Amino acid sequence: MRYELTKDLETGNALIDKEHRELLKAVNDLLDACGKGEGRSSVQKTGAFLSNYVKTHFIHEEQLQQKNGYPEYTSHKAFHEKYKKDLNDVVANIPPSGAEMKDLAALNNQIGVLVTHIRFEDKKLGKFLQRK
Ligand SMILES: [Fe+2]
Repeated sequence: MRYELTKDLETGNALIDKEHRELLKAVNDLLDACGKGEGRSSVQKTGAFLSNYVKTHFIHEEQLQQKNGYPEYTSHKAFHEKYKKDLNDVVANIPPSGAEMKDLAALNNQIGVLVTHIRFEDKKLGKFLQRK
């Protein structure tokens, strides 16, 4: 399965949607690598990229929220903080010898959590920003 920023995942904010596409592209690259049997060596690299990209992307979302007085800033930011920590833990737990199935499963689980966040919380933010 490949991840795609389908209509139902679009927030309507150009910057947020562009960065969400980048995130999903990184995930797809990882899945492609897995399909070619390169998963173990690529997962750590892709995991590190995701960790870094997520950090920058969350800052952009939080700046938009603060600038526009988003009423759910506190809870949205709290999710971002927990997510960054959880994703970092998953990436840090990948052994130097290469990712195991359980690492791939944990990373995949984190992507699922992020897609759900996009589907509900980021879309809610997008609607709010469009009314501004
Ligand atoms: Fe968010």
